Amino acid sequence: MHTPEREAHRPAAGEADAHRLDEADPGHRHLFHVPPADGGDHPESAYLAGNSLGLQPRATRDELLADLDAWRRLGVEGHLEAERPWLPYHELLTAPAARLVGARPTETVVMNSLTVNLHLLMVSFYRPAGVRTRIVIEDAAFPSDSYAVRSQARFHGLDPDDTVVRLRPRPGEDALRTEDVTDYLAAEGERVALVLLGGVNYLTGELLDIAAITAAGRAAGATVGWDLAHAVGNVPLALHDWDVDFAAWCSYKYLNSGPGALAGVFVHERHLGDPDLPRFEGWWSTAAATRFEMTPVSRHRPRWRPGRSPTRRSSRWVRCAPRWSCSTRSG
Ligand SMILES: Cc1ncc(COP(=O)(O)O)c(C=O)c1O
Repeated sequence: MHTPEREAHRPAAGEADAHRLDEADPGHRHLFHVPPADGGDHPESAYLAGNSLGLQPRATRDELLADLDAWRRLGVEGHLEAERPWLPYHELLTAPAARLVGARPTETVVMNSLTVNLHLLMVSFYRPAGVRTRIVIEDAAFPSDSYAVRSQARFHGLDPDDTVVRLRPRPGEDALRTEDVTDYLAAEGERVALVLLGGVNYLTGELLDIAAITAAGRAAGATVGWDLAHAVGNVPLALHDWDVDFAAWCSYKYLNSGPGALAGVFVHERHLGDPDLPRFEGWWSTAAATRFEMTPVSRHRPRWRPGRSPTRRSSRWVRCAPRWSCSTRSG
């Protein structure tokens, strides 16, 4: 049957068809700067590299320049008097970040880089004890994640070769099946302290069943965290409802925030305020009201409250935060 919907989704047979489909749904391309195609036949390339570095939103340059201009005009006063004051800048990003990953605003914060955030999260959520020491990752995990989990094992005095389990697809298959992960957790779960997988794998592009694997990991008594570098801005996410323990992601791929831009963190509501979770601290971990008291000992017990970033530097903020805010508006 030839419905208008089917017609719109009919595979394009040639360039004319592709132009017709583009006209029917112009999408968001016009919001971004697209580099020219090699050879000069087309003013814009197809640009299929958003999995590595997303395109620059057209709004980014003006917002960055406005913040640099505020810094030039106001110096330190810009913390409070800039059009978008730098001191509470992260608060502008919390709601869009939460929306992107299906979280509550209290569960997300934008800060640091992805690998740094994974380490900060593992300080809290990788807590090997007794026979429960293993960290489960994919064999095709991004190398930074492999190195990070191995160094966490070493940090706890464990042998990374015994501690880190790399799940491989079945012989002859390219991608993990959900049951490859859930069956492992059912069989070996009592030895697993942490499951840390990529929501969308960087190498294979596979989207894992985050809800099912999280449920299996938690049922086995493990903590379940996700690296969402290739998932955020790419696929729908519902981290809160899926009961994910924690997640981290970068913003320079499908969030188009540019190289070196700030990353994101999710910590499930049930962990917020838990005084038993160890946490690395900095002056942004304390309440805003007492941040400038500069007492040698923080008056706050270390607890995860994502609204308060453990570490944050204002200069990085000015260069990076506008890129985040533009990209989340463009998407
Ligand atoms: C899946 C995944 N994890 C981790 C990283 C490392 O991110 P960063 O350099 O921001 O720490 C990347 C970077 O591309 C990645 O794709």
